[in-house]
Amino acid sequence: FFPKEVEIIEVGPRDGLQNESMFVATEKKKELVKFLSKTGVRRIETASFVHPKAVPQMADAVEMAAFSNELGIEYIALTPNMKALGRAIECKVPQIAVFVGATETFNQKNIRASIEESLAECNLVFKKAKACNLKIRAYVSMGFSCPYEGNVSYEQVKRVVEHFEKNGADEISVGDTNGQANPRIVYERFSRLKDDFPNIEFVAHFHDTNHFAYANVVAALQAGISKFDSSIAGLGGCPFSPGATGNVSTEGLVKLFDDMKIETGIHQDALHEASQFAKSLFM
Ligand code: HMG
Ligand code: MG
Repeated sequence: FFPKEVEIIEVGPRDGLQNESMFVATEKKKELVKFLSKTGVRRIETASFVHPKAVPQMADAVEMAAFSNELGIEYIALTPNMKALGRAIECKVPQIAVFVGATETFNQKNIRASIEESLAECNLVFKKAKACNLKIRAYVSMGFSCPYEGNVSYEQVKRVVEHFEKNGADEISVGDTNGQANPRIVYERFSRLKDDFPNIEFVAHFHDTNHFAYANVVAALQAGISKFDSSIAGLGGCPFSPGATGNVSTEGLVKLFDDMKIETGIHQDALHEASQFAKSLFM
């Protein structure tokens, strides 16, 4: 019934840090990535090529990408538009991530464009990224509810997923950006998505605002999801999603999967060290 193994994608150095108002020195960010690279986690989101005025914490994307290349890890960088993609290609990023909201208000606030405009921009980004042999991860944000518009319907999510599929996303991460999902909606939504898009690799991305994230993880597992985003020490949030708190924590998730005898390839001891270091950044 449960899978033998799952993949955990570490988003701490990006989603974890982007919401922190205190700028974390680039050298400290590099150290965090180095700690994480020793845990056995296969992929880490280490950079975001967004506008430095919009998210000052991610202003060192070029240095972080260069360091990730040096370290030889498989890493992901956020590229919401063609300008971002150009910067990522210059930095030899192997895997990119686009993000589009399922609601108009959030998408406007987050990337200053309508959903239609963002999807059109994604067409261009996907086309060029494919020509450069980059792997493409695509996020649907506000996949369950939205702080501005309330409940999000299945059709709103499907619209964005359909577009990502048509343009050739390698995987689609559905985000509970504001942490308001519950196990029932998670189970129903992922089951339906898997029925409607049998060829897509879905990832579940939970924020733990209501402390339901682990319950939501299990509901997603039961719906057949086997990839999860998480953040070391449970850091995280989105500056454009008021009230959203950290992602589900990587160490909690690994402990849960270990106890359930589901393989992650990640070592709890090394993770503990990474977590202690992550926490020390904010003490
Ligand atoms: P914009 O202002 O609409 O861009 O920003 P524009 O195309 O109108 O251009 C204006 C100026 O910005 C121009 O410069 C561009 O060159 C420059 P000027 O000619 O005036 O000197 N510009 C850029 N500079 C650097 N990097 C770029 C870039 N693009 C344009 N990429 C933009 C649009 C998307 C860039 C901006 O709104 C932005 O950076 N937003 C930040 C969004 C963000 O990072 N949100 C958090 C991540 S999403 C999230 O957390 C959710 C997720 O975790 C999943 C979940 O939980 O659901 C992924
Ligand atoms: Mg997030």
